[in-house]
Amino acid sequence: MNLHWLLASPRPDGVPCQRLLYQGLRAAILDGRLVAGARLPGSRQLASELGIARNTVMFAYEQLAAEGCLLADRQGTRVAALAVAPSAVVKAPAWPALARRAALAESAPAGPELGAFAPGVPDVANFPFRAWRGCLDRAWRAARPRHLGYAAPGGEPELRAALAEYLATVRGFRVRPEQVIVTAGTQAALDLCARLLADNGETAWVENPGYPAARTALAMAGLVLHSVPVDGEGMAPMTADWQAHPPRLVLVCPAHQYPSGEVLSLPRRLALIDGVCRSGGWIIEDDYDSEFARGGPALPALFGLQPDAPVVYTGTFSKTLYPGLRLGYLVVPEALADVFAAASASLARSGQGIEQVALADFIQRGHYTTHLRRMRRLYLARQQALRTELARTPGPETAIRGGAAGLHVVLTLPDTLADTAVAARAAERGVVVRALSRYALPPMRCNGLLLGYGAVPEAQMPEAVRRLRWAMQPD
Ligand SMILES: Cc1ncc(COP(=O)(O)O)c(C=O)c1O
Repeated sequence: MNLHWLLASPRPDGVPCQRLLYQGLRAAILDGRLVAGARLPGSRQLASELGIARNTVMFAYEQLAAEGCLLADRQGTRVAALAVAPSAVVKAPAWPALARRAALAESAPAGPELGAFAPGVPDVANFPFRAWRGCLDRAWRAARPRHLGYAAPGGEPELRAALAEYLATVRGFRVRPEQVIVTAGTQAALDLCARLLADNGETAWVENPGYPAARTALAMAGLVLHSVPVDGEGMAPMTADWQAHPPRLVLVCPAHQYPSGEVLSLPRRLALIDGVCRSGGWIIEDDYDSEFARGGPALPALFGLQPDAPVVYTGTFSKTLYPGLRLGYLVVPEALADVFAAASASLARSGQGIEQVALADFIQRGHYTTHLRRMRRLYLARQQALRTELARTPGPETAIRGGAAGLHVVLTLPDTLADTAVAARAAERGVVVRALSRYALPPMRCNGLLLGYGAVPEAQMPEAVRRLRWAMQPD
């Protein structure tokens, strides 16, 4: 048998000869050029024919024998009969279709964006590294084998207890630790809620404009989205929304709507609770950045606003500590606590036991509140600096909205200036601004810019605003 073609030149650079021989033989067996039962030359003979070392041939033969492509016995080396016809192996049909929900994923985020004016980005340069390292060290020193396994269902007991106490102080929640379910951030919490609180094909209300990642989480869990417009008082459902699209789930950011920054008014809060009680639905309250509320006491959360209201609450450490920590939590009515803990344990197989213990310690030692107090002051000063710079520099007719909490404001633009065009021009000058219109679903039309100031030190604000103003000039 002539096998010279196995190592025909030109040979690709950098691929060892034994790999080429192995791949060549394997391909020939799989595509039927070498048929079952065909005898191959002995290793010595093939090595001399190809002008290579015998070890090289032996390696290829042994590898293929281990994979079941060759049979080696006293009579020599033969091609094995494959379980499937060779042509079926190589001529694979086109990939099977994906699930329909695969098309629902919004385009992948571009990766971490930092600097002026990336929205929603906390200032991780001011993260309390020392205090956090101390808590992690203590957690590792006290670690037991169980901390290296999956986390306890619902989260590590220390963290659930610390959060229940913290939320009692800052939010007035009266909840038992068991009602706190630790999650891998809000995104995981939404996935859990969608699966446990609604069935496939049921309706979920989302705010318009709204947070795209949340829409994806709900749609990919099999829910049908109905978008409800947001106005100056937050989510504004009409009678027709309730009648024609009664919700099973309502996802809402009452404290600081994303992206508009509006605060859901108290009458709207009460009306929303009343509405879901009538429609037999649930509210998911996404409280992603109210820790940085300013300008007077925050309105009470929907959770606990009315006794026994069908509300679950979700919070995150993505803004207050750092997004890569991937820790957040749900607070659920007592009757739901067990099912949420069990489902989260079986669905997500949560981990990060050590980080959870460290975080509990961090909260209990007061580091968390100290850090929040410091960051609240810092973000307030940065928002103020942004306002001052925008007021100081001439530009088109704009208004700043949505600064009651969080890390971003919205700058409304006149109709003559398209937000997408401004964002593209700003990017040319190294400034990240998000166009508000990108968060809206038709028929809602918005025109404005999301300006995240969280990671922009005051000293850099004048230059950042100067570049933004350049991007806002008409051509
Ligand atoms: C509206 C909203 N909710 C929640 C989050 C936080 O999500 P996670 O906890 O999954 O990081 C964000 C982050 O940008 C957000 O904008």
